[in-house]
Amino acid sequence: MDRIAIQGGFRLEGQIPISGAKNAALPLMCAGLLTKGTLRLSNLPHLADIKTLKSLLLGHGTKIKTEDEGLDVAKGAVITLSSPDITNTVAPYDIVRKMRASILVLGPLLARTGEATVSLPGGCAIGNRPIDLHLKGFEDLGAQIELKEGYVRAKAPTGRLKGGTVHFATVSVGATENILMAAALAEGTSVIENAAREPEISDLAHCLNAMGAKITGIGTETLTVIGVDSLHDADYAVMADRIEAGSYAIAAAMTGGEIEILGKNLVPALTGTLDMLRSAGLSLDETDSGMMVKLESDLVKGVDATTHPYPGFPTDMQAQVMAMMSLCDSVSVITETIFENRFMHVPELCRMGADITTHGSTATVRGVKRLLGAEVMATDLRASMSLVLAGLVAEGDTYINRIYHLDRGYDRLCEKLLKVGARIERQVGKGI
Ligand code: EPZ
Repeated sequence: MDRIAIQGGFRLEGQIPISGAKNAALPLMCAGLLTKGTLRLSNLPHLADIKTLKSLLLGHGTKIKTEDEGLDVAKGAVITLSSPDITNTVAPYDIVRKMRASILVLGPLLARTGEATVSLPGGCAIGNRPIDLHLKGFEDLGAQIELKEGYVRAKAPTGRLKGGTVHFATVSVGATENILMAAALAEGTSVIENAAREPEISDLAHCLNAMGAKITGIGTETLTVIGVDSLHDADYAVMADRIEAGSYAIAAAMTGGEIEILGKNLVPALTGTLDMLRSAGLSLDETDSGMMVKLESDLVKGVDATTHPYPGFPTDMQAQVMAMMSLCDSVSVITETIFENRFMHVPELCRMGADITTHGSTATVRGVKRLLGAEVMATDLRASMSLVLAGLVAEGDTYINRIYHLDRGYDRLCEKLLKVGARIERQVGKGI
């Protein structure tokens, strides 16, 4: 396995291009199942999860062509997806277990063919990740759901889903996306209440409308969908990754550097993160091509943070903010309300000298003067990024193992950080 080696203590200066958002690209690719026509997606990030989903979609009969590899780090890839025939409605365990977002093929398969058999995704490092909200939503659209041998078997008794009202008891990004895609082709009108409002969902809704869907209420907690018989070609650019942008903003602050983060519409996408970073002492000023970021004071100000669904402070930024707060001028209390086990970065940060104690879903971070380089273990995607951030400022060398977690969500991280002065390299085959 590979590892990342970082020599800490170097200010980051320059520009970092932000790639297309993983959490927008994955549902957008699944939307390719909904049409016999061609969906052209641009600004796709180079990520392991994108590769995994491509192999899953190919298995369903989707034809995928690469128009542009996007080898230039500032440019994403361009692919076309078309699904004239769905040749297989089974999403197998060995793919779904690797990437939970595979569950997002369930809605499109069900909407397109009237049936789908998708492996239960199972849990992951950060929580048991149930899909009950997805399944109840499909039942509200007339589907029959059966759980058997670790698979969900969903069927539309009449061959086509019926529009209906889906009320989510708790906000769920994936369930909102799954139901939205299913409702697009259902017979009649659907209303989705207490829908998640993450920007990635709006990205999906805009793309579906470009394909001929009739979705209104985009960006609000109530989405109305008038079902259509089919969707057509569309050409859509994936939105910039707000979590990647927030992560690199923190890298600038922690190293005492100044970085221009290059990407479109970052300010609205960073709602929930911007205020928090500004109260911690960062300046984040819009430029023509993105956002200029630096730390105004010598030390990060200790501020409390509680994760919430959008437009609140995003759970996907929690680990990165905790790394930043480990060097703050006082104390910061960080509360995780979305996932039940999303503090696995804490023991690794403590091994680098951070002073963090956890009590259930709350972590108390007492700022220390310095962090020390160490050999550490990545446990999940965002935890891995918190260790990279700590390594960038730690005294000495840091070695991060199990970086396949990072490869899932950060496009060409070493290349981007090297370009702004970090001493970082990927050491092939040297990981434990
Ligand atoms: C999406 O996961 C993101 N993944 C996650 O990003 C992100 O952390 C999460 O939304 C919250 O913003 C993708 O978009 C691919 P949820 P998702 O359904 O859809 C519970 C990253 O690091 N729940 O909004 O799975 C669930 O257990 C990843 O990029 C149910 O109880 O998240 C969690 O506690 C990590 N039943 C809460 O809801 C369900 O049927 C929010 O989950 C579904 C979810």
